[in-house]
Amino acid sequence: MIRLVDVHKSFTVKDRKTRKPKRIDAVQGISFEVKAGEIYGLLGPNGAGKSTTLRMIASLMAPDSGTLEVCGVDAIREPDRSRAAVAYLATDMNVYERFTPRELLRMFGEFQGVEATVAERRGMHLLEKLHLTEFADVKMDGFSSGQKQKVGIARALLHDPKVVVFDEPTTGLDVLTAKTVLDLLRVMKSEGRAVVVSTHVMPMVEQICDRVGIIYDGKLHGDAPPRELLKSRNALTLDEVFFQLAAESEAAALGKGA
Ligand SMILES: Nc1ncnc2c1ncn2[C@@H]1O[C@H](COP(=O)(O)OP(=O)(O)OP(=O)(O)O)[C@@H](O)[C@H]1O
Ligand SMILES: [Mg+2]
Repeated sequence: MIRLVDVHKSFTVKDRKTRKPKRIDAVQGISFEVKAGEIYGLLGPNGAGKSTTLRMIASLMAPDSGTLEVCGVDAIREPDRSRAAVAYLATDMNVYERFTPRELLRMFGEFQGVEATVAERRGMHLLEKLHLTEFADVKMDGFSSGQKQKVGIARALLHDPKVVVFDEPTTGLDVLTAKTVLDLLRVMKSEGRAVVVSTHVMPMVEQICDRVGIIYDGKLHGDAPPRELLKSRNALTLDEVFFQLAAESEAAALGKGA
């Protein structure tokens, strides 16, 4: 359902000190596949390239090169078509606080061309799954960050997408709220959707991911079920793997500089 082959993405930014243009190679030849009914975890430290990869899968930005297919659609040639199949949750998703969840979902249903009664039914079903039904008609200005996150999730899933792309969906959530979100992702899997989530913590991937890819410096290091991945790197924790990768990257940079 999702297929990336040798995907690259660079950004040009102004260097803060020299003010000269500087190239950042955010994603440097990433390849992986996520099948229907599978949850794939993209793991990596800050700045590794997780969000950039997810934004490309959601057709919010185009790769510079490589192949990207979403639901059999060439996402580079037909981004509008592939985007329509994707639920995307950003890390900084805001809700309109003057609205209630029901009003917000109604509005997004209209934006996405979902018929009003269908949007209402799906929206209420999602709020129920997220344990938010009793807040459906409460203005969101007093909502906690977890409640807002859950409304953002319902909003993302309203158009019944085949592919679910969630960027750090449980960051900042307490364990109970996080569990609600993970349970919903399991439902998405059981319904045959392809799910990709990013995170920088291991417990979440251990609980729900069928496979994980570790991303570091824009490259994928390993692609396997969570436990196998730790075993293959002879590590007990993910932190250990990150330290290993940092040391390897430093050694490679020193080697290049010499
Ligand atoms: N729109 C952009 N313009 C310029 N640089 C960008 C842009 N988006 C990402 N980058 C850079 O690309 C690199 C990868 O960023 P990305 O947001 O994909 O990392 P991440 O793995 O999601 O990190 P985090 O865990 O902090 O969210 C970083 O060096 C970042 O500064
Ligand atoms: Mg990110």
